[in-house]
Amino acid sequence: MDNEIMVMFGTETGNAEELAETAVEMASGHGLTGKLFDMEDVTVEMLQECKRLVVVCSTWGDGEQPVNAQDLYDSTMEMEDGSLENLKFAVLALGDTAFDLFCESGKEWDAVLENKGGIRVNDRIDCDTDYDDFAEDWFEETLQKFQASM
Ligand SMILES: Cc1cc2nc3c(=O)[nH]c(=O)nc-3n(C[C@H](O)[C@H](O)[C@H](O)COP(=O)(O)O)c2cc1C
Repeated sequence: MDNEIMVMFGTETGNAEELAETAVEMASGHGLTGKLFDMEDVTVEMLQECKRLVVVCSTWGDGEQPVNAQDLYDSTMEMEDGSLENLKFAVLALGDTAFDLFCESGKEWDAVLENKGGIRVNDRIDCDTDYDDFAEDWFEETLQKFQASM
């Protein structure tokens, strides 16, 4: 379908997954069909075919990707420049300001998707532990921007 938006999550304890589910539910209010993906089940080929992508990713360890996101992140880093030029994307990073490398993995996704040719539809949001309202407002704004760019 031509109105699909992929929402993929990187998570260790489920916060990013829950938020990604919210984004999928909200998508229909913007003429979009949201598809939820665990990053573990996403390949670079799927990213290359994807036109619209929302990344919801937490940070673990000492500024590291969640386990379910690491392989896809590594493979995306290895893609040729320009591979994602058909992709429009936006990133919601989840973290905790108590850590030195706040929201590092979301920042890494935001950078790699742009570096591979993707077009950023909305600025990344870096969420601290109290994120529910901010995240929903950001989804609203982001989905509007995706809709406007169709
Ligand atoms: C052991 C541990 C390490 C963490 N490391 C970081 C970090 O380096 N940077 C950061 O911003 N947040 C860090 N966090 C905070 C998580 O990213 C935050 O709790 C997030 O909401 C978890 O989302 P998830 O359930 O989707 O994984 C860490 C949390 C834990 C428990």
